[in-house]
Amino acid sequence: MKKILFVVGSLRGESFNRQMAVEAEKMLGGEADVRWLDYGAVPMLNQDNEFPTPEAVVRLREAVTESNAVWIFTPEYNGSYPGHLKNLLDWLSRPEKPMDYATPTSIVGKAVAISGAGGKAATAGCRAKLTEMLTFIRANVLPEQTGVALPPESWSTNRLILSDADRQSLQAQADALIGQ
Ligand SMILES: Cc1cc2nc3c(=O)[nH]c(=O)nc-3n(C[C@H](O)[C@H](O)[C@H](O)COP(=O)(O)O)c2cc1C
Repeated sequence: MKKILFVVGSLRGESFNRQMAVEAEKMLGGEADVRWLDYGAVPMLNQDNEFPTPEAVVRLREAVTESNAVWIFTPEYNGSYPGHLKNLLDWLSRPEKPMDYATPTSIVGKAVAISGAGGKAATAGCRAKLTEMLTFIRANVLPEQTGVALPPESWSTNRLILSDADRQSLQAQADALIGQ
């Protein structure tokens, strides 16, 4: 069974993107072994503290290595992706041993799917910039993406509401990931 690592790019308890990840897990229909990344202990990257590698970063890299694919669910912050997500990716881009730039990092070649729920632009700016960053660090960004423009009712109730088209799009991503 394929192992898929879920990464939610929001720290908010009632996050729409977390709610979307819950829906996405259901769409995998038990055909994948889903693990949710807990990155609360990953420190801000400081090159003075890269080695010895912080324990939470070791676990982050192991979680990526052990997965066949990663599925990111992220809000858009100011037309881009949140800083804590950038911090995770910066850690994943760095060598695991000092000056070892020859050994590929855990994210190189890893299949990554991107979904985002937010305002009217449906996280388009966020997804474009995240795609650029992931491509830069040599991840294999899947072409299927989901961008959800949340309806007014979601904003007033804090409840994720997905259209049929949103669901179809998430399902296409789930199917693509199972095929990885
Ligand atoms: C710092 C910040 C910047 C934001 N910028 C955008 C934005 O550029 N586009 C957008 O659609 N929503 C923006 N929002 C609103 C988020 O879409 C909204 O807070 C959403 O609930 C975040 O997703 P979450 O519920 O998964 O945490 C921003 C929110 C914050 C906190």
